[in-house]
Amino acid sequence: MSFTAPIQLPGLTRDPLWYRRSVFYEVLVSAYVDSNGDGSGDLQGLASKLDYLQWLGIDALWIPPFFQSPLRDGGYDVSDYRAILPDFGTIDEFKDLVRKAHERNMRVIIDLPLNHTSDQHDWFQQSRSDPEGPYGDFYVWSDTDEKWPDIRIIFTDTEESNWAFDPVRRQFYFHRFFSHQPDLNFNHPAVHEAVFDIVRFWLDLGVDGFRLDAIPYLYESDEGNGEGEPPTHEFLKELRAMVDREYPGRIMIAEANQWPKEVAAFFGTDEEPECHMAFDFPVMPRIFYSLRSQQADELVRVLSEVTDIPSWAGWGVFLRNHDELTLEMVSEEYRQAMYGWYAYDPRMRANVGIRRRLAPLLDNSRAELELAHALLFSLAGSPFLYYGDEIGMGDNIWLDDRDSSRTPMQWTPDRNAGFSSADPGKLTLPVVQSLVYNYSVVNVESQLAQSRSLLHWVRNVIHVRKAHPAFGLGSLRVLQTDHESVLAFVRSYEGSGTHFGDQPEDVLCVFSFGHNPISVRIEAPELANTRLQDLFGGGAFPSVDEDGVLTLTLATQSFYWLHIGRHEQY
Ligand code: NOJ
Repeated sequence: MSFTAPIQLPGLTRDPLWYRRSVFYEVLVSAYVDSNGDGSGDLQGLASKLDYLQWLGIDALWIPPFFQSPLRDGGYDVSDYRAILPDFGTIDEFKDLVRKAHERNMRVIIDLPLNHTSDQHDWFQQSRSDPEGPYGDFYVWSDTDEKWPDIRIIFTDTEESNWAFDPVRRQFYFHRFFSHQPDLNFNHPAVHEAVFDIVRFWLDLGVDGFRLDAIPYLYESDEGNGEGEPPTHEFLKELRAMVDREYPGRIMIAEANQWPKEVAAFFGTDEEPECHMAFDFPVMPRIFYSLRSQQADELVRVLSEVTDIPSWAGWGVFLRNHDELTLEMVSEEYRQAMYGWYAYDPRMRANVGIRRRLAPLLDNSRAELELAHALLFSLAGSPFLYYGDEIGMGDNIWLDDRDSSRTPMQWTPDRNAGFSSADPGKLTLPVVQSLVYNYSVVNVESQLAQSRSLLHWVRNVIHVRKAHPAFGLGSLRVLQTDHESVLAFVRSYEGSGTHFGDQPEDVLCVFSFGHNPISVRIEAPELANTRLQDLFGGGAFPSVDEDGVLTLTLATQSFYWLHIGRHEQY
């Protein structure tokens, strides 16, 4: 595969690896800004905040589904892939949003749930009522609900089976998620064609890529467990080939909640590529585990495991998103510990996870918020922020399911947090009014006015990260330390030697999860005699000694990003 073909979209830079350098921001249209006072956020509202997002340093938006939908799963239950939910706006308004984003060199990634549709989708309505008709085979029908007993249930809170009986067709249909979300039948060639056409429809409107929702689950078989089966990869290869051929430069991001070695399969190979990016699920819960346990060993373990991926492939790193903080990737023992620390009230749990926002999870501790963000912005992969976390927004565990952390963005201390001019009772979800996170206290306006606010701090870190290509493009190597609470790694970048003019650089990142100040010895033989400099203020640090040992002291729950003077002449 070659990346030499120029990618030129109006307003956007010609960086073929833009997604590896980008800071992403997940934003729910419904919850960001209501421009017309009807109580729901909308596309025009989002467009009106692009200046704010540009100021923050955001390079790419990830917008969860905004299509026609009964909204029984936050829009991941699509009833028409080519129509926008009227509450959110129109196709022209979407085009306007993309144009305005591109003018700011900001990309737009949309979410495509392809594994399933809403049961309200016309395809399903026709499939159930006319089995012999053109949509008869669009879904996975069976006379029994006993097929594939080994396929696990994902929404354990609400579903007892992956099959539901349809009284109209008098057969069972397969559903990986809610029973109102029948799975599409990818064994049927017409489904491929329909999906390809939907992808083309949105690429024609200018989107820069897709988050491929629930992508491991496209195919089921008698032999497998319905996760990443071979035909799923064949399909992704075909989809990627079409995108590369017809829309070069647009990207595909895999949502696959699995171990990196399994997720790596979703990148494909140089010869037969699949997705450009995939989320890193295992690292996220381990950050939360380390914060409470004061032990860095689990992070050290997963970060030391080397997964071979193509040179162009990139991970997506995140702390929170619109779903529960999933604990599927940790052992039962760790899961129970995390429930104890982070979900002591049963209302805080959902499925195999915790339905809370970042700031409440960390009990609004500024030190922990900074430490968690410092990890997010220095791990290997592109960081994905969740809207509102940049100001430490709270949640509302009295709302159902994952709506607890999908409440309106808090812009000002005014009515409805400046999100909407509607009657407060009309909002799709209420604004947070809890004691600590009340919108009168936690909002963008007041944080803009305080130079030491979390918002300014996050913005600063984003800008420091973006000034150093080692974070987006470099390798990561974990170093040995003599302290159980410390994680240390080096990000190294050899320089691209391309027209982007990136210089080689190395950055040493050190994090202490200790709840008290500590002193640590870090072993870095290949860095012997190198000078270190703080990346934020430029201050000189002790050099690594001639034996390759560095001794540092760290304050409670703190971190350093240190420039390593390896490439300089002394
Ligand atoms: C993954 C999405 O992130 C989640 O919000 C949704 O409920 C499921 N897919 C099912 O569509």
